[in-house]
Amino acid sequence: MLSGKKVLLGITGSIAAYKSSFLVRLLIKHGAEVKVILSPSARAFVTPLTLATLSKHPVLWEFYDPDDEEGKWNNHVDLGLWADMMIIAPATASTLSKMVSGSCDNLLMGVYLSAKCPVYFAPAMDLDMFKHASTQDNIKSLQSFGNTYIPTNSGELASGLIGEGRMAEPEEIIDFLLMDLQKGLPLNGKKVLINAGPTYEAIDPVRFIGNHSSGKMGVALAEAAHRMGAAVHLVVGPNSVVPTEKAITVQYVVSALEMKEACDAAFKDADMTILAAAIADYRPINVATQKIKKKGEAPVIELVENPDILAGLGSIKNENQVLIGFALETNNGIENAIAKLHKKNCDLIVLNQPSENSGFGADTNKVTLIGKDEKQVELSLKTKVEIAEEILHHSINTFYP
Ligand code: PMT
Repeated sequence: MLSGKKVLLGITGSIAAYKSSFLVRLLIKHGAEVKVILSPSARAFVTPLTLATLSKHPVLWEFYDPDDEEGKWNNHVDLGLWADMMIIAPATASTLSKMVSGSCDNLLMGVYLSAKCPVYFAPAMDLDMFKHASTQDNIKSLQSFGNTYIPTNSGELASGLIGEGRMAEPEEIIDFLLMDLQKGLPLNGKKVLINAGPTYEAIDPVRFIGNHSSGKMGVALAEAAHRMGAAVHLVVGPNSVVPTEKAITVQYVVSALEMKEACDAAFKDADMTILAAAIADYRPINVATQKIKKKGEAPVIELVENPDILAGLGSIKNENQVLIGFALETNNGIENAIAKLHKKNCDLIVLNQPSENSGFGADTNKVTLIGKDEKQVELSLKTKVEIAEEILHHSINTFYP
């Protein structure tokens, strides 16, 4: 959720500033890009060199460097606009007060006042300073301005006293940010089940009946649903791409029967289910235990129909569950997709008409979304990542308006 986010970390003059180095590392570990700005007094507690090395960006603390003959101006407006998120940690009593009054006597305050992104602040100070009515009022005022307070901890303070005022630990700050980002997402609290990839139906120990599905479409859906706040369970067939996002639960299967077992088990908890896998319609009745040898004439492989997973889920789904199927059609696309939509009791079907740039294996896709009322929304050729986002946005607008 922090992945790809541009984060400005403001550090002010508190002993807790040493923890900010760990915070930089954790933010980067979560995929964020971090730029650090120090208040002038923060430099007494933590070195720009440490933070620049960790963040891989120059660390700034002045509007301009008086020793720089070219007179480079550190543009606070540009920095404020660059960021997706600003965190001031530690935030001293003095900085809280400046943030409330709008005092712009250092670069960090200039950036804060210019920033249009969400701002989080994690105070750090001694317990009596923290308890003081002015500090408590300042925290409330900052919250009323739309800034988010990352609560302090109680414990041993630098003074040796014990009480409230310790800055939250870097791990706690990360957990807080993740929770907070999650809250505003459209699929927050929803469980989404997705399947992806092909199935392989064994003929003998070395051969199978399969198809060209790469899993890209289903995995793009899983990652998009995760980015939109869902808890995602992905059931994925063999030789498929896998999601990079660790928070997605991935269950690996090979055959259609294994895929059915996995989907059936996860379905009862799912709020939304999307079946994007290309599941073999038939499997060999008998699987040879040894490699089938050439005997001079072609062997006959008898097939039996696989269960239809989507139709099975459609027959047991309750009124709160959303079921989305795909239909891969080479002819009479709309007509066939509508027939599948009703027959399998889906709430939405995604018609996929394969061509050179869409369908199996491609990075792009071209689909038409068809609702229960048979209303059609045709999407232009886009990357599978974009198509996944559009399918989910359409579903959120339709089913969770
Ligand atoms: O994986 P990629 O390379 O990215 O390619 C993506 C894709 C082309 C596989 C994907 O976009 C797609 O179209 N998936 C559906 C493929 C398919 O099997 O379509 P179908 O029309 O045969 O099946 C209709 C629906 O029933 C599908 O949701 C399918 O998952 C489901 N089904 C089919 C057979 C079966 N035994 N059980 C099922 O649940």
